[in-house]
Amino acid sequence: MTSTSGNIVQDNQNGLKYQLKSFEKIPIKFWENPDDGALHIARYIALCIRQKQQDNELIVLGLATGSSPIKIYNELVRMHREEGLSFTNVVTFNLDEYYPMQPDSNQSYVKFMNEFLFNHIDIKKENIHIPNGNLPMEFVENFCQEYEKKIDFYGGIDIQILGIGRTGHIGFNEPGSWLTSRTRLVKLDHLTRIDAVKDFGKEENVPYRAITMGINTIIKARQVFIMAWGTHKASIVQQTIEGEITEMIPATYLQNHPNVKFYLDAAASSELTRIKTPWLAGICNWDDKLIAKAVIWLSLKLKKPLLKLTDEDYINNGLSELIAEYISAYTLNIKIFNKLQHTITGWPGGKPNADDTNRPERANPTKKRVIIFSPHPDDDVISMGGTFLRLVEQGHEVHVAYQVSGNIAVHDTDAWRYAEFMGSYTKAMGLDHPELAKIVGKVTKFIDKKQANDTDIKELRMLKGIIRRQEARSGAIYCGLSDKNIHFLDMPFYETGGVRKNKLTDEDYALITKLLNEVKPHQVYAAGDLADPHGTHRVCLDAIFEAFDRSKDQKWWNDCYLWLYRGAWHEWPIDEIEMAVPISPDELMRKRKAIFMHQSQKDHPVFPGEDTREFWQRAEDRNRATANMYNTLGLAEYEAMEAFVRWKF
Ligand code: F6R
Repeated sequence: MTSTSGNIVQDNQNGLKYQLKSFEKIPIKFWENPDDGALHIARYIALCIRQKQQDNELIVLGLATGSSPIKIYNELVRMHREEGLSFTNVVTFNLDEYYPMQPDSNQSYVKFMNEFLFNHIDIKKENIHIPNGNLPMEFVENFCQEYEKKIDFYGGIDIQILGIGRTGHIGFNEPGSWLTSRTRLVKLDHLTRIDAVKDFGKEENVPYRAITMGINTIIKARQVFIMAWGTHKASIVQQTIEGEITEMIPATYLQNHPNVKFYLDAAASSELTRIKTPWLAGICNWDDKLIAKAVIWLSLKLKKPLLKLTDEDYINNGLSELIAEYISAYTLNIKIFNKLQHTITGWPGGKPNADDTNRPERANPTKKRVIIFSPHPDDDVISMGGTFLRLVEQGHEVHVAYQVSGNIAVHDTDAWRYAEFMGSYTKAMGLDHPELAKIVGKVTKFIDKKQANDTDIKELRMLKGIIRRQEARSGAIYCGLSDKNIHFLDMPFYETGGVRKNKLTDEDYALITKLLNEVKPHQVYAAGDLADPHGTHRVCLDAIFEAFDRSKDQKWWNDCYLWLYRGAWHEWPIDEIEMAVPISPDELMRKRKAIFMHQSQKDHPVFPGEDTREFWQRAEDRNRATANMYNTLGLAEYEAMEAFVRWKF
């Protein structure tokens, strides 16, 4: 007997609840690549602008800031420059602004909008509206009312662009916001403030408040595009799209909007039922990957080792289709068990003289040339320190390449101490270095006077970069490398002195391409971690992909495996892991020591995210969790494991 309420089917016999196929309450559009999604929105906006121009009408756009819409603005600017798209009939209202905030501050949304859009198009200044974060408190309420009136005056918003915060906020409507809320001064959620640290440098610099359009203001827009890109949004996206409407996740109010579309990339949609457990959502197109995912899910859900799963377990959990296909649980269990077993290897560079049919890496050549790309100077040891140590010990020619200087992540106090040290040491040694003394003086004076919004001067950036460089060098030497195999690329896209980075250019690609073609690697390791809060990992990976693409005609290219590891925040889902390298308790301790070499990132890193654990703790917890998961599935019990996925071009 089953009963249906909304999308939930209640099976009265066994008390199980299943969700039916269509339980997404906001229409979604998937994009392999977020850039393509952004281009699609930009082109749609351009079309609407042109249509209104033909009718001699204004179009009112509701605009967002943050990382999500940047590509939309880039494309609109390009269309203005190259395709003559005019914005003279466009009126804009921005969602929000921090309060208090000077419009010329680096973090102001006024500056953001000018930099990414308004300075580059022909919009009329009087048509631009952004909440004023610079008003005395007693004028704020009145300003907010006027903002609403202005939106009404222009006939309401035609197209509203939204990002989503990890709290589920749209605009800065944080959990607890009412459906009827209008433009107003609000308090920012703690998580939102933590996420904003990347823009403000320190948590204490992040304002506690903001002025935001209300939910009611947003929901009245005739058309809404909401976007989420990246793994860090996956959980809130799932709750927003599949959960009940609740003021605790204000984005869920959009479920009732008649003309809304959620644009998502693969990473942001990964928690949706139709992606994560599609067998619960309806009919599946079963392939080997999906079967493995389902069986592993079942085993973890029931906390039963793979080899103990029964026909009944499959049938009672929506997987009877699989049993029909495989005749019995037994055959299926063995198949998946073996698949997982074959991912485990203590020989990440391949086991010499062994049959490698079922091993993740080739046995030959027995001594491989390996490059470990580390986006920041500590990602190598944090993410794959155990594997790094093994590769060196097993006699491979290992190189490590630090892609960016990481200079923005050094505390001023640390840099000050090093600068003072340099000055005192040269003095103590009786060396007279007037030039050095001048630079030390300049750096320490700058730090003493530095304000929250100041960008570091070149000399300080250099000093901070060197601090990180020496730490990375110590870590790599500790792992057994010599200087000739340690490469610092200092990719130029990173060197802005601020959190906002430049675009990748040929110079960045050339640095990586050159190294690849010099070393001619058999194995490359790179950070495939798309959840990095700065996005730097993502850019670094894109640069590697491009460099591989540019090296296609090289002989080494055909014989090179690219392995992706993940950074400090997330691990690969167990069903996606293609190589799991066990780490013994002793190796784990050595990995910890290698991480300790990064003193500037210890205790309280500049960009800690919301996780209060230190990097070595995150790394160990994560590596232990992976080992535990293998063990729960019925495989051997290891202390810890590092995991990799092979990227196939
Ligand atoms: C920005 C705004 C916020 C952001 C959201 C996502 O004007 O109102 O709601 O859209 O915090 O930020 P990103 O895109 O940086 O992840």
